Amino acid sequence: MKAHHIEEVLFSADQIEARVRALVHDMAEGCRSENLVLIGVLRGSFIFLADLVRELYRQDVHPRIDFMTLESYGSGTESSGTVRVAKDVGMEVAGTDVLVVDDILDTGRTLSFARQHLLALGARTVRTCALLDKPARRSVPFQADYVGFTIEDRFVVGYGLDYDGRYREVPHIACVTFAG
Ligand code: IMP
Ligand code: MG
Repeated sequence: MKAHHIEEVLFSADQIEARVRALVHDMAEGCRSENLVLIGVLRGSFIFLADLVRELYRQDVHPRIDFMTLESYGSGTESSGTVRVAKDVGMEVAGTDVLVVDDILDTGRTLSFARQHLLALGARTVRTCALLDKPARRSVPFQADYVGFTIEDRFVVGYGLDYDGRYREVPHIACVTFAG
């Protein structure tokens, strides 16, 4: 782990809560499928997904929920470039309408891979949702269907996002500054 410190709050817990509520309000009509499955990309999506599904419940949307573990990053802040399935979905996705949920859309490789993978498993439709989007970092062309906040090219932690496995439990989102 490089020397670093956690900087100012980028989005407070209250700001995140308000944005998740507004996002779900916008998503709800598009989520009326009887066959909706939310698939969280582990590990970064676990808090966002937990908040999303409870807000969807309030909008009378009742999806099934599963997770898959995808790995592209080593232990640092740079993607290794290839994505692999470390643990696949456990349920049958053939014929379902999938909404993939991730913490952040960075190079685009993870969500683009997830989308192809789930279509190959026979999903009827695959849409994607990311809490954060860093469009300046994209290395493959990819746009999510739903985005919480668009941010600049900064490394961020909290609300599920980690640096080297740390800070996922932080209830807000903060920037990381690296020394040197
Ligand atoms: P992509 O495949 O480059 O789009 O990367 C997506 C994954 O990279 C996310 O699911 C995160 O795990 C990780 N990631 C990208 N940017 C950040 C960041 O600023 N903080 C923490 N994790 C990040
Ligand atoms: Mg990560």
